[in-house]
Amino acid sequence: MNGEAKDYDVVIVGAGWSGLLACKYCLAEGLNTVVLEARDRIGGVWAYTDDPTQTSVMETTRTTSSRCITEISDFPMPADYPDFPWHWQINSYLAGYCARYGLSAHIALNRPVVGIRKTAGKWRIATFDGTEWTAPNIIVASGVHRDPIDVSDDPRFRNYSGKLVHSGSVKRVSREFTDETVVVWGGGESASDIASEASGIVNHIYFCIPNGQWFLPRVVDRWPPFPSARRKVVDHTSSRLRLLLSPTHQYAPLIYQYLEYAFGFNGHGQEAWRTAAPYQRSFVNKSSEVLAQLKKGKITPKRDVLRCDGKMVHFSDGTVARVDLIVTCSGYRASFPFFEDAIGADANQRDWFKQVFYDADPSLAFVGFVRPVIGSIPGIAELQSRYVAAVFSGKRRLPDPDARAKTIAADARFWNHHFRFTSGRLAGLVDHFIYCNQLAKLIGCYPNFGRLMLSNPKRWWKAVTAPWNGCQFWLNDRRHRNRIFETYRRYDDNRISQIYIFLVLAPLLPLVGLYTRARVLLFSARLGHRVVAPSRNNRP
Ligand SMILES: Cc1cc2nc3c(=O)[nH]c(=O)nc-3n(C[C@H](O)[C@H](O)[C@H](O)COP(=O)(O)OP(=O)(O)OC[C@H]3O[C@@H](n4cnc5c(N)ncnc54)[C@H](O)[C@@H]3O)c2cc1C
Ligand SMILES: NC(=O)c1ccc[n+]([C@@H]2O[C@H](COP(=O)([O-])OP(=O)(O)OC[C@H]3O[C@@H](n4cnc5c(N)ncnc54)[C@H](OP(=O)(O)O)[C@@H]3O)[C@@H](O)[C@H]2O)c1
Repeated sequence: MNGEAKDYDVVIVGAGWSGLLACKYCLAEGLNTVVLEARDRIGGVWAYTDDPTQTSVMETTRTTSSRCITEISDFPMPADYPDFPWHWQINSYLAGYCARYGLSAHIALNRPVVGIRKTAGKWRIATFDGTEWTAPNIIVASGVHRDPIDVSDDPRFRNYSGKLVHSGSVKRVSREFTDETVVVWGGGESASDIASEASGIVNHIYFCIPNGQWFLPRVVDRWPPFPSARRKVVDHTSSRLRLLLSPTHQYAPLIYQYLEYAFGFNGHGQEAWRTAAPYQRSFVNKSSEVLAQLKKGKITPKRDVLRCDGKMVHFSDGTVARVDLIVTCSGYRASFPFFEDAIGADANQRDWFKQVFYDADPSLAFVGFVRPVIGSIPGIAELQSRYVAAVFSGKRRLPDPDARAKTIAADARFWNHHFRFTSGRLAGLVDHFIYCNQLAKLIGCYPNFGRLMLSNPKRWWKAVTAPWNGCQFWLNDRRHRNRIFETYRRYDDNRISQIYIFLVLAPLLPLVGLYTRARVLLFSARLGHRVVAPSRNNRP
C-alpha cells in the first residue's frame, strides 16, 4: 500500500483476475493506483472457499478454457501446468503475477467497497471500515459471477418440498447424497460439472436444460474419422488461418456439418437438449465429460421441469420422478450494489462503449463483464485493461460522444442479432475473436501480419497458424518477438493439429455436408426431428 494517502489516479474495485490485470496496466502507464478487495486474499472465484455464500470454484474445478487461450499475454503459465489447470494452480499463477509486477503493494485486502458516488469531479469510494478513497477514474472489476439468479420461487419449483440449492453454494458433491435422486437444472458449465461429479456418487441424475445447449469437448483423441496418436485441445483450433478459412461470425455450415457428424447435433446429439442456435451463436459448454455419463445411463437428459408436487417432479416430456435434491444452476447476474446514484440494478452493459466505458461518464470503466462463447474471460479482460489504462493515462483518446453513441448502437445491433437465438440472459456474450480484434484496433496493438510476412515469412506462418494466445497483441513491438515465438513453440504440437484439420479435412467437409443433408432429407420425416426454439418468456 502507498502509505496513508487515500487520493489516487485510479481506484479499482476487486482483486480477482480482472482487477489484477487492470492494476498492472494502470501502473505501467504511471497511474497512481489502488485495488480495494473485499476478501482477505486475491484471486476472486479462483480463491477457493468453503463458505457457501461466497462464489468460488468447486473443490474439483479445472478451467474449461485451455491455458493457451487463458494465460496472460506476457506471463505464460508454468511449463508443468496441464492444458486445463486446476483451480489451485490458477490461484498460485495469479500470486506469481502479483509478485512479478509488484502488484501486492497496491492492493488493500479486507476492504469491501460499500458506496461509490461522484462529487466535484471526483469519485468517492467508501469501504466498510469507514475509509474514503478518491480518484478521478474508477475501474469496477467486481466480477460477473457475484449475484446468483435465484429461481427457487419460479412456478416450476414453488411446490417442491425437498432440498433446493443454487449451484453457487455447492463446493463439493457430498457423500451424504449417495442414494439420492437429483435434478440438475441449467445448461452452463456449473451444471455439467456438478452432474458429472455427482453421477459417480448419487443414485440417479435428471439433467434439465430448458433452452437447449451446445457442447464441445475440451480435448479429443482424434479428429473423426482420422486416427491420431496425440490428443488435441479443441480450443486450439483458433489460429488466424483457421478463423480466416471459417470465420466464427458467419454460419460456417461445413464446420457445423462436421461437428454433427463427429459428435452429434449441437455437439451431443440429445433431442432433449436440442437448440435452434447455430454453432457459435450461443454459449458453448466445454465441460462435456458429462456426455460420457449419459452413455453409461447414470444421467437422463431432460428438457425442463414443468411443476413439482412435494418431492414429485413433473418433467416437460410428461414423465414424473421422485427427487431428493434439486440443484438450480441458473447462473449469475452482474450487480453493482455499491453505486449510490450512477448505475442501477437494470444496468445493461451493451449500453457502454465497447461494453467497458460507462457512456454518461467514461471516467467509470468496467473490466471482466464480457463472456465469450468460446475463449476466456481473462484473455478479454487483459485487452480491456490495456485499453482503459491507455485512456485514463491520456495515451489514447476515446471517440467523441456522438461517435461513441453511434458505435454503441451499432455494436448492440450486431451482438443482439448475432445471439438472437439465445434467451438473452447472458448480457455480455461476445465472440472472443471478433471482440478482441475490435479492442486491439482501439488500443493500437492489432498485429501487423502483412509487415511480418514481408520481413520474416517463416515467423509469419508460425504466427498465423498458432492457436490463439494473447501474446500476439505484442507482435508489433520487436522487443517482444523472441518471447512470443517461444510461446508459440510451446504450442507447436497443436499447430500441427490445425493444419491437419484444414489442409487434410477441409476438402472432405463438403462431402460430409452432402452426406448429412441427404440423410436428413431422406429420413427426417420418419425420425420426426423437431427444432425447439429457446424461450424468451422465462427470464427470472
Ligand atoms: C467455477 C468457475 C470456473 C470458471 N472457469 C473459467 C475458465 O475455465 N475460463 C474462463 O475464462 N473463465 C472461467 N470462469 C469465469 C471467471 O469468472 C473468470 O475466469 C475470472 O475469474 C473473472 O475474474 P474477475 O476478476 O472478473 O472476477 P472474480 O474472480 O469474481 O473477482 C472479483 C473480485 O472482486 C471482489 N469484489 C466484489 N465485490 C467487491 C466489493 N464490493 N468491494 C471489494 N471487492 C469486491 C471479489 O471479492 C473478488 O475478489 C469460471 C468461473 C467459475 C465460477
Ligand atoms: N470448469 C469450469 O471451468 C467451470 C465450471 C463452472 C462454471 N464455469 C464458468 O462459470 C460461469 C457461470 O457458469 P454457470 O453454469 O453457473 O452459469 P451460466 O453459464 O450463466 O448458465 C446458466 C444456465 O441456466 C439457464 N437459466 C437461467 N435462468 C433460467 C430461466 N429462468 N429459465 C431457463 N433457463 C435458465 C441458462 O439458460 P439460457 O442461457 O438459455 O438462458 C443457462 O443454461 C461461466 O462463466 C462458466 O463458464 C466454469
